[in-house]
Parts: sequence; C-alpha cells; structure tokens
Amino acid sequence: MKPTLRPSGWLRPASMASVLAIGGLALALLVHAPLATTAHAATAAPQGAQTTAPATTAAGAPDTRPEIVRRGEYLARAGDCIACHTAPRGRLFAGGLAMETPFGTLYSPNITPDPQYGIGTWSEEAFFKMMRTGRKPDGALIYPAMPIAQYTKVTREDSNAIFAFLKTVEPVRQPNRPHTLRFPFNQRDLLYGWRTLYFREGEFQPDPTKSVEWNRGAYLVEGLGHCTMCHTRINMLGGSSPREQFAGGLIPVQNWYAPSLTSDKDGGLGDWSIEDIVDLLRTGVSKRGAVYGPMAEVTYHSLQYLSDEDVRAMAVYLKSLPDQGGRKTGPSVTPDPSVFALGKRIYAEKCAICHGDNGEGQLPHYPPLARNQSIEMDSNVNPIRIVLNGGFPPGTKQNPQPFGMPPFGQELNDTEAAAVVTFIRTAWGNHGLPVTAHEVNELRKAPLH
Ligand code: HEC
Ligand code: HEC
Ligand code: HEC
Repeated sequence: MKPTLRPSGWLRPASMASVLAIGGLALALLVHAPLATTAHAATAAPQGAQTTAPATTAAGAPDTRPEIVRRGEYLARAGDCIACHTAPRGRLFAGGLAMETPFGTLYSPNITPDPQYGIGTWSEEAFFKMMRTGRKPDGALIYPAMPIAQYTKVTREDSNAIFAFLKTVEPVRQPNRPHTLRFPFNQRDLLYGWRTLYFREGEFQPDPTKSVEWNRGAYLVEGLGHCTMCHTRINMLGGSSPREQFAGGLIPVQNWYAPSLTSDKDGGLGDWSIEDIVDLLRTGVSKRGAVYGPMAEVTYHSLQYLSDEDVRAMAVYLKSLPDQGGRKTGPSVTPDPSVFALGKRIYAEKCAICHGDNGEGQLPHYPPLARNQSIEMDSNVNPIRIVLNGGFPPGTKQNPQPFGMPPFGQELNDTEAAAVVTFIRTAWGNHGLPVTAHEVNELRKAPLH
C-alpha cells in the first residue's frame, strides 16, 4: 500500500459533539441538584488590566482600532470560537452547528453582528458579562457546552478585543435554531445546580512565584484554550474535580480518549520536551506522535495560528503539571501467544511499511508506535479507533501536506483488529494491556466525527 497524501484544509469545521456531550452530561446532574435560588448574583467582576487607551467611547461602542481587532481575532483563535460557532459549510460565526448530547441536541448560536439574529445589539459590557458570568444580557444562564467555566478567566481587555473583532465579521441573517433538549434539561434554571458545584466565576489570577511565561501559558491553557473541557475526566454529575484537572478522560458520545497532560504514568507528557509539545500543538506532528481525532481539529482551527511564544508558554505550563513518576516501567504484559502471532503477522503485512519493522516510525510523518504513551495508555480507545477509522493530522501552515493513515475497519475483522492492536500495545517494550474483539466491535459504532 502506498502512503497517502492529502491536501491541506480537508478538515471539516469541527464537530464538537464531545464538548457538547460534556455540557449535556452536566445537565444530568441538574435533576438531582438542589436549586440554588440565590446562586451567583452577577457580581461586578474584577477588571482586567487596561493597558490600552479607553476601551469604550461615551456611547459604549467598542474600540475597533485595527490593532485591537487583530488582537481580538488572534484571541478568538486561541479560544477556538469558530469550531463551535460555524457549522459545516455554514457561514463564518453564524452558528447552527448541531451538538449531540444524551439529552437532546444543542445548536450553537449566531455570533455575527447581525442586529436581529446575531449579537449586533449587544454592548461590550454585555459581552464581557457573558464571558465572565455565563449569563446572557437578559440574565438567562448559558449552558456549559459553551466553555464558560474556562472563559470566566479571560481578562476584560481580552474580552473587549474579541468583541471588537466579532463586530467586524460579516453579519449573517440567519436565525438561531432552538435547542431540542428534552424536559427537564431544557429548563435553563436547572443550571443553578450545576453552577453551584462547578462554576467558579473569576478572572485568572497570576501566580507571582512563577515566571511571566508560565503565567501566560496557564492563562491560555486554563482560560481561552479550554483544554480541560476534554482533558479532564467528567464525573457522573457532569462536572470535574480540580484534583483531576488535566489527568485525562474519555470524551462522552464522541468516544475518543483525551490523555493526561500532566507528567503522569498513564499517557502524560513527562518524557516530552518543550519542543515536542510545541511541534505537536502547532504543526500537528512531532517526534512523539501526531494529533488525530478531536485534537486534530483543535490544532487545525486554533493552535496553528498562535505565536511560537504563546504555544511555548503553554508547553512550559503543561510541563510543570505535577509529575506522578514519568512513564510506565517494568516488564510488558505477555498476551496469548496465538493472538500475538496473528497481530505480528498483520503488522508486518499492513503497518510496517509506514510505522517501521520495529515500530520506530518515520519522522515526522509516520509516528513511532514503540515507546509511544498514547498506545500504552490504560484506555485502549484511541489505538483501536485509529486502526478502524484511520486518520489525518490537520493541514497546518508548518505541515501543509500531512500524510494520512488508511482505515482498516473494512479489511480487518474484530479478531484481527484486536490482535494487531494487542501486538502494538505489548511489543517493543510497550506496557499496554491486550484488547478484545468485543472492545473493537463496540467502537465500530462510535461516530466518525
Ligand atoms: C465548545 C463549543 C463552544 C466554543 C468553543 C465557543 N462557544 Fe460560544 N456558545 C456555544 C454554545 C453551545 C452556546 C449556546 C449556549 C446556550 O444556549 O446556553 C454558545 C453561546 C455563546 C454566546 C451567546 C449567544 C446568544 O445569542 O445567546 C456568545 C456571545 C458566544 N457563545 C461567544 C463565543 C465566543 C466569543 C467564543 C470564543 C472565545 C465561543 N463562544 C466559543 C458553544 C461554544
Ligand atoms: C475537543 C477536545 C479537546 C480539546 C478542546 C483539547 N484536546 Fe488535546 N487531545 C484531545 C484528544 C482526543 C487527544 C488524543 C488524540 C491525540 O493524541 O491527538 C488529545 C491529545 C493531546 C496531546 C497529546 C497527548 C499525548 O500524550 O499524546 C496534547 C499535548 C494535547 N492534546 C494538548 C491540548 C491542549 C494544550 C489543549 C488546549 C489548547 C487541548 N489539548 C485541547 C482532545 C482535546
Ligand atoms: C500509509 C501509512 C500508514 C499505514 C499503512 C499505517 N499507518 Fe498508522 N499512522 C499513519 C499516520 C500518518 C498516522 C498519524 C495519523 C493522524 O495523526 O491522524 C498514524 C497513526 C497511527 C497510530 C496513532 C499513533 C499515536 O501517536 O497515537 C496508531 C496506533 C497506528 N497508526 C497504528 C497502525 C497500525 C496498527 C497499522 C496497521 C494495521 C497502521 N497504523 C498502518 C500512517 C500509517
């Protein structure tokens, strides 16, 4: 088989079903949660440092000087607004992206400056209040499918710049599609319960004991980047515990596993250099592996546009997340010899051409499989899915013509796919556990996007 090559820009404008599922799960809780009648009164939030000239005119119109708009565009990239607020083949920021949850479907709203259908009549203040407090101008609570728990950390100055940029995009006369959430999840007031448990309003507070670079990285990762929305396990109540921040988690509905971003034994960035992380985030490929699935969309829409300094700052922050002991060590598990032999044969026939006879890969296009944490992880979802579905890293400015991996879902039956995944998880000193044909079969049903 010949390595395949695809032009850049193939990636669909994100399906963020994942994140929506999280919002959806959040709703699950609401049925049980006590309704906090006095929940957060929209307290006047501390204002971000105003380093620019007065941000508003007397009439409250936003400051739309070109440099502010450019900054706003950049920050909107960092926040990946486009991923959710633009539907496939839809107009820019006109919303309408369907986000499936176990409780029904949410549709992202139109955030173009159209006065009737978009946010054309919103003031800069109202926009900031939405970002900080998760409330619409009429006071209605916003579903956490919009990353309000993270965006609350955004400074006033950055919020104003994003608003100024949104004011300059083309207004689109397209009405919002109403959400089709089932009762009682369609009751916004139930969000009071979720907020009491999981929403902590307030701007990012820099840690004075850390470097400026670390703080910049923390601000981007915890705030606009909303990385925790996927990389933190969601509990039964649809929230996540601060202790488990960035420790990895399965993305509901979408069924991809977002690995730990700490220096954990399971997945984790403990062995990665800052350079590897920067490469992966910005270009989509690195010495350690390539991005795929939902992470490919994050790189495609957002991270590839960020400056080297900002991505580096994010990497510096991620590398500082507590080290739980690096990588897995000790002997590998010995799977059933007949399964291993079958997997080994399939690997030699179908995979070695790209990933190398000994899983060494061919950098930077074909990731190594030997000593690759994303293959050894306790969760076997990603290696199974990529073998079934194949994948392409995103086309990025620095890697415009990514090399892809063909899907093997048709070619290999459940037993064969399980054998080859078992092989790559246990060969070459990898510390993964075997996978079963049943597990493969279950993942054949996972949505492709
Ligand atoms: C992960 C998906 C996601 C991302 C990323 C996202 N949004 Fe949203 N946003 C939503 C959803 C879903 C809603 C509707 C929530 C609701 O109905 O309560 C929403 C609501 C809004 C609203 C309220 C609009 C209205 O008419 O009520 C605004 C404004 C908004 N988002 C702006 C932004 C901006 C600016 C960014 C980037 C900084 C952004 N969003 C990123 C999903 C997202
Ligand atoms: C929409 C969900 C989603 C969001 C948002 C997201 N990620 Fe990911 N991320 C994933 C998934 C799924 C993977 C596993 C696939 C892969 O390795 O490409 C992943 C993989 C990664 C990896 C590779 C880890 C490894 O061990 O191989 C890094 C590093 C990473 N993400 C960083 C980030 C950062 C930083 C952010 C915020 C800017 C972020 N992610 C936001 C879903 C997400
Ligand atoms: C035509 C070349 C090619 C072939 C053949 C191929 N792969 Fe891949 N593989 C790739 C590329 C390119 C990627 C990166 C995909 C992405 O980022 O979306 C990849 C990614 C992977 C990953 C994820 C690596 C990571 O960092 O998490 C696994 C696991 C994998 N391949 C296993 C296999 C197995 C098993 C086979 C044989 C059944 C196979 N590949 C055949 C090119 C190939």
